Amino acid sequence: MGHGLIQALAEREPECLIVGLDLQPIKDSIAACCVETLAGDVRDIGLLEDLARRYRFERIFHLAAMLSSSAERAPLVAYDVNVGGTMNLLRLALAERDRTGVIPMVVLPSTIAVYGLPSLAAKVAAGTISETEFLEPRTMYGCNKLAAEHLGRYFNSHHGQFESESPGSLDFRSIRFPGIISAETLPTGGTTDYGPEMLHAAARGEAYISFVRADSKLPFMTMPEAIRAILELTDAPRANLTRGAYNVRSFAPTAAELAEAIRVRFPALEVAFDPTPGRQRIVDGWPADVDDAAARIDWGWVPTHTLDSALDEYLIPGLRAHYGIA
Ligand code: SER
Repeated sequence: MGHGLIQALAEREPECLIVGLDLQPIKDSIAACCVETLAGDVRDIGLLEDLARRYRFERIFHLAAMLSSSAERAPLVAYDVNVGGTMNLLRLALAERDRTGVIPMVVLPSTIAVYGLPSLAAKVAAGTISETEFLEPRTMYGCNKLAAEHLGRYFNSHHGQFESESPGSLDFRSIRFPGIISAETLPTGGTTDYGPEMLHAAARGEAYISFVRADSKLPFMTMPEAIRAILELTDAPRANLTRGAYNVRSFAPTAAELAEAIRVRFPALEVAFDPTPGRQRIVDGWPADVDDAAARIDWGWVPTHTLDSALDEYLIPGLRAHYGIA
């Protein structure tokens, strides 16, 4: 997501100076869009303080996270990365505000993992849920991201309440993303990964064994739509925003429907369903779909893809180009 966002920002705002931070050295084509790129960790306060000394940050896009399956395997490390890393960047933003008097914007991709449905029956009964329902995450990742949302909300609206009648030190904005599917990259350590994995397996001519049941249903969107959502949220006048975190989604197929739609385009695809209990439990606790009405009303969000149009207009052409398929 970070790589795509850097490219999109550089294209639409060529005057914008971008500093990119990633765990790995950033590849040349992306680094070319940046004034500086660094290989480093959001847990490294010294590195962030050094950046704060050398740059004035107007917007901070905090995309660093350990996803849900990885976080479940190493919950304490996940806390350090997902909550500690968020706090470090909020601290950087606060220092920026203290130095310049200008309120920086901090944008956090949050997740459907902040929701926790108590059972599969409850998930089926709930159907499409809004931002205020079922906020009892059942994963470390969901707990971390909800905590990060709350920290952002605090610094956005309440920090400094002892000193000021109009408290709030940062402009914090967040989107609760569904599963994201890219034609170029495969995610690592997520629980929505069966979607992109199935698609990339099809393009590579490989069979796929799904780690969730065929009837597993979750919302998804494509990577370009996710990046568009981030940029549209940043464009919104702050006064229009009634929430700190917004649902977005484009389509919500079951794993079987996803497999079928891919098989129409790659007829050789074979998919078997062999659920892994832990990951299935996570998916059964996430909503089948989310209501994006608040995003539509507050900042004009409109998803442009159905599953079929996402496949035909972006994913299949992108995969063909990526894997060099004629
Ligand atoms: N894609 C994420 C995950 O599976 C959810 O936001 O962890």
